[in-house]
Amino acid sequence: HRYDLLVVGSANADLVIRVDHRPAAGETVLGSDLATHPGGKGANQAVAAARLGARTALLARVGDDPYGRLLLDTQRASGVDTDAVLTDDGPTGVALITVDRSGENSIVVSPGANAQLSARDVRAAEPLLAAAKVVSVQLEIPLDTVAAAVRTAAAAGTRVVLNPSPPASLPADVLVACDPLVANEHEAKLLLRRLPDGPPGAPESWAEGLLALGPRSVVVTLGAAGALAADRTGMVRVPGVPVEAVDTTGAGDAFTGALAWRLGAGDDLEAAVRYAVRVGAAAVTRAGAQESYPTAAEVTGR
Ligand code: RIB
Ligand code: NA
Repeated sequence: HRYDLLVVGSANADLVIRVDHRPAAGETVLGSDLATHPGGKGANQAVAAARLGARTALLARVGDDPYGRLLLDTQRASGVDTDAVLTDDGPTGVALITVDRSGENSIVVSPGANAQLSARDVRAAEPLLAAAKVVSVQLEIPLDTVAAAVRTAAAAGTRVVLNPSPPASLPADVLVACDPLVANEHEAKLLLRRLPDGPPGAPESWAEGLLALGPRSVVVTLGAAGALAADRTGMVRVPGVPVEAVDTTGAGDAFTGALAWRLGAGDDLEAAVRYAVRVGAAAVTRAGAQESYPTAAEVTGR
């Protein structure tokens, strides 16, 4: 394999303002100076894995503008192969982010060039998908592009990791190919809305519900409380690592990028989740998404 990980996904410029509390409908609040960080769930995962030492490539689209150049520069500086990052006439994707005092965020994404990443782009990159141990996908790109990526990877025998964020319903064959499907509480609840029997109970029941949708395995991330790993042989709860949260933005992407890399490296699901939990915890201790991600030395040293 030429790559440990190929990420098919979004790249955004994150425009971040820190606030005391996030505004409610109709409310105006004053916040900090504006900070601009490289972000986007796909680009974040690629940087997370590459920083840890994975041979990583990104398939994405950015605009021919300063935000696009910021994203490309950050990928390259982290060691990500950007040969498959296409440059578009339209604007680079942008995420408007507010972060409150507890480090929690709210995000609105304007997809820009991410909306142009097509099933055709995926088919053109088929050799890349076949040359990777793992392909990781999220939902900030068009859903038919997601489906093409998952189907192409599966047909090539490449393992698929999928984070349904932002949540959307997916074709059955796409769900079935996920190994694992990685969802946080919010994503799990939305994906399970169509299941009978009322309100979701404990996280274990979300993991069971997600497994019933067909994926080979499931990981439910629980923020500071760690994560659950489940497949048809059983379920394990991996505890969180206590840290002082500064900014949780992109911590889930650091988790998933690390998880995908460790799975490709041959870890079993539980071992990969244990490692990914430590990577996600490190990421919340610093501001921004990609800039906050640890190196392998920092993770081992924890
Ligand atoms: O998951 C965090 C990411 O979501 C941010 O970097 C932002 O760009 C949005 O895509
Ligand atoms: Na962070």
